[in-house]
Amino acid sequence: MRGTLITLEGVEGSGKSTQCARLAESLRARGLDVVLTREPDGTRMGAAIRRLFETDGPPPGPLTQVFLFMAARHQHLVEVIRPALARGALVISDRYMDATLAYQGFGQGVALETIRDLNAMATGGLVPDLTLVLDLAPAVGMTRIKGRRLDAFEKMDLGFHHRVREGYLEIARTDKRRVVVLDADQDAEGLQGQIAAAVDDLLRRGHLHAG
Ligand code: TMP
Repeated sequence: MRGTLITLEGVEGSGKSTQCARLAESLRARGLDVVLTREPDGTRMGAAIRRLFETDGPPPGPLTQVFLFMAARHQHLVEVIRPALARGALVISDRYMDATLAYQGFGQGVALETIRDLNAMATGGLVPDLTLVLDLAPAVGMTRIKGRRLDAFEKMDLGFHHRVREGYLEIARTDKRRVVVLDADQDAEGLQGQIAAAVDDLLRRGHLHAG
């Protein structure tokens, strides 16, 4: 049996990480084998790559960013995602392939075709069964993360975050079967309920397998 891959995406401050944890907890309580993981830092190598964006200096150029995130992604696939799916687990990943399209493609102008090709290479063509985009106005998200130590992306101007948001919405429009957009400008409980409903719908359809 092969497992199921669910990814959560969204702008900064959209509540992704909290929602990933809540979703994992609720599915585990139902007895499912759940692996909760994240990009770029789902592996040791990915964590080292993430640290490159947490220094005070300027971030690497956009195409370099693409290569770094792709390296983290491939390692994540090999070390974490593929083995979990092979044993039939349900994998929840806090960010995956759409993040590079949104942040480096729509956000910073790297050609979308280039990113799609590299994503296909890095993932071996593994597309999520379901992707939830937690949609939020960037200004609201930035207010939510105020006071945290910010990484290179969180320090970018609002225009960048608007392009990232629009990028995610465009990805959702072009891949309606896979991508569900949810309004993240609501309380965590309400959003949790909508996420649970989308996941239940996927699991009810039951035949869906990543790979
Ligand atoms: P976060 O998921 O904790 O917000 O941190 C990950 C940061 O890295 C976030 O600012 C988005 C950025 N990122 C990209 O720019 N491209 C990618 O492909 C991935 C996975 C993350």
